[in-house]
Amino acid sequence: MEISWRAIETVPRYPYPWRVREFFECMPEAVNGEPPTPVPTGLDPAERFDLVIIGWQVWFLSPSLPIQAFFTAAEAVVLRGTRVISVTCCREICQRAQARMRMLIRQAGGVLTDSIVLTHQGGSMVGYLTAPRLMLSGRREAGALLPAAGVAQHDIDGLARFGVRLRKTQNRWAEAEPGSLLADLAPTDINTSALLPEMIGAAVMTLFARVARRCGRPGGLLRLPVIGVFMLTLVILLPVVLAVSALLTPVLRILLPSRFPRRTANAPG
Ligand SMILES: Cc1cc2nc3c(=O)[nH]c(=O)nc-3n(C[C@H](O)[C@H](O)[C@H](O)COP(=O)(O)O)c2cc1C
Repeated sequence: MEISWRAIETVPRYPYPWRVREFFECMPEAVNGEPPTPVPTGLDPAERFDLVIIGWQVWFLSPSLPIQAFFTAAEAVVLRGTRVISVTCCREICQRAQARMRMLIRQAGGVLTDSIVLTHQGGSMVGYLTAPRLMLSGRREAGALLPAAGVAQHDIDGLARFGVRLRKTQNRWAEAEPGSLLADLAPTDINTSALLPEMIGAAVMTLFARVARRCGRPGGLLRLPVIGVFMLTLVILLPVVLAVSALLTPVLRILLPSRFPRRTANAPG
């Protein structure tokens, strides 16, 4: 088979490791769906693929700005009528982002048949400390007080099962009515205790995103205080929300079992 591998970049580029200001400053645009200019990847819009695998991250409960930018490029036409498999890396708080991504792929004419979700190791509470350390310092390894950050190596190694399946089903990639190829391999296995924090987080972020945008564009001085208050709100609110959700979710699972199942399965929609 022939593989075409493209990195998605934007102008401006985002730093890694992140600086605190840049990290929080991209929230309003990510939430409001206002991506920056995409850098052409060199794809020929007339080119047709049997299968497109899109790797992307969740930023502030939304698809990352670079992947949102890709969908504004003329090149996104390569997805039209093509099977798409989504591969996401996140901290478990990703339901809204997945829904938006499904919509972006559908609008581009792609057929999303499978969504693979990789989550950070250690659970939500630990991730509250290890994830910022990873983003702001680039440090993944365990420290004196903190466990390792990011996706566990055995989860990354486990991706091989999807590769093996795709290799075996190559003759089905371009079938007329594409169906799931990976559903029985547990591509998505998210603990739904993240649903409540996500609902609360979404309400807070939508509010701050609107106010910040009224105060200007990224880098503007006027919106800096809004971003500062958002940052403080997140730092103070998140541990409280996570703790409350850990107590409330078992009750909600009994009262609303269809909305709060124990885990979510593959749901490419
Ligand atoms: C700006 C920014 C915002 C993020 N927001 C979220 C989020 O809302 N939910 C989530 O589950 N992960 C979030 N993450 C974590 C990323 O989705 C991803 O897991 C992380 O960047 C590590 O990716 P890597 O292992 O590919 O470096 C965010 C990351 C960044 C850089």
